[in-house]
Amino acid sequence: MSKNLLDISDLCVDFVTDEGVLRAVDHVSFSVAPNEVLGLVGESGCGKSVTAMSILSLIPSPPGKICSGAAMFQGRDLLTLPHEALRKIRGKDISMIFQEPGSCLSPLHKVGEQLAEAVQLHYPMPREKALKKGRQWLEKVGIPEPERMLKAYPFQLSGGMQQRVMIAMAMINGPSLIIADEPTTALDVTIASQIFDLMRHMRDENTSVILISHDLGVIWEMCDRVLVMYAGRIVEEAEIKNLFENPLHPYTRALLRSVPVLDGEDRELATIEGQVPSPLNYPPGCRFHDRCPHAVEQCKKQSPELRTLSTGKKAACFFAEQWMK
Ligand SMILES: Nc1ncnc2c1ncn2[C@@H]1O[C@H](COP(=O)(O)OP(=O)(O)OP(=O)(O)O)[C@@H](O)[C@H]1O
Ligand SMILES: [Mg+2]
Repeated sequence: MSKNLLDISDLCVDFVTDEGVLRAVDHVSFSVAPNEVLGLVGESGCGKSVTAMSILSLIPSPPGKICSGAAMFQGRDLLTLPHEALRKIRGKDISMIFQEPGSCLSPLHKVGEQLAEAVQLHYPMPREKALKKGRQWLEKVGIPEPERMLKAYPFQLSGGMQQRVMIAMAMINGPSLIIADEPTTALDVTIASQIFDLMRHMRDENTSVILISHDLGVIWEMCDRVLVMYAGRIVEEAEIKNLFENPLHPYTRALLRSVPVLDGEDRELATIEGQVPSPLNYPPGCRFHDRCPHAVEQCKKQSPELRTLSTGKKAACFFAEQWMK
């Protein structure tokens, strides 16, 4: 069996739309090691959430369809598991924190009931004990008056509170993998940093995290390794320090130019010229070529594979070596 916790290989996801079939995720492969925080970055629409949701078969289908690939977890392919078997894994071994908290809290049940239910579904125990655990987790995610909150309905909570309840629910069973898709967008900085402390603590205990964020400062603080996605594909993969110090793909370099975290200089925040191509209309060759200041004829015609370079890093650019320090 693989030493990795999760091995994704050759994942392709399509959506059938009125305008045609679009490929949101295109031959994506990566692994998550035990006790690792793996970052997933890239501009809006490049396929981060679709990749993340595919792992637990949470793609709405139709219009979505996983067309190929495998997601090996503890010797089983999650993508072909029967519904019932997947339900036993979700929330226990792998849990997900969504961009939108509303989507996973039931409006009909009190917060306490939902937390207790999440525990009892996988670990039979008396209601009282499960509720006590729920209360402890509300405290851990920084919810004031947890006792009172247990008796509240989600609609009585602010967006930030709901987000924290969802995070507590994702963490409560100590899963071996948490997939966190922009987990702290609705939270203020202090609470967000408390959540990230919790994630680090869980990582030390035995949990891996896939962390999707537009905040490259957060990625830098949290991640061991990062995948950079562009137009449905992974274009670079590297250890965090290496990625920030020596990005090899022109897209990664453009992305990083918008973060002033490393050198502390007061720079103008750069934006990347042009737009992410529509998945209905990807350009031929390298999908970044029309925005790339270094593109040559070859880039317009041939599509560069994600390849492993001599340093062990991976990049999908014909000229990656040129930028290697
Ligand atoms: N239900 C859907 N129907 C049709 N197309 C979809 C659907 N969900 C996602 N897509 C398309 O798949 C592509 C990838 O979307 P995805 O949500 O993964 O982007 P993302 O990288 O998570 O972006 P963001 O940073 O804005 O969250 C986009 O082009 C999007 O329009
Ligand atoms: Mg998303």
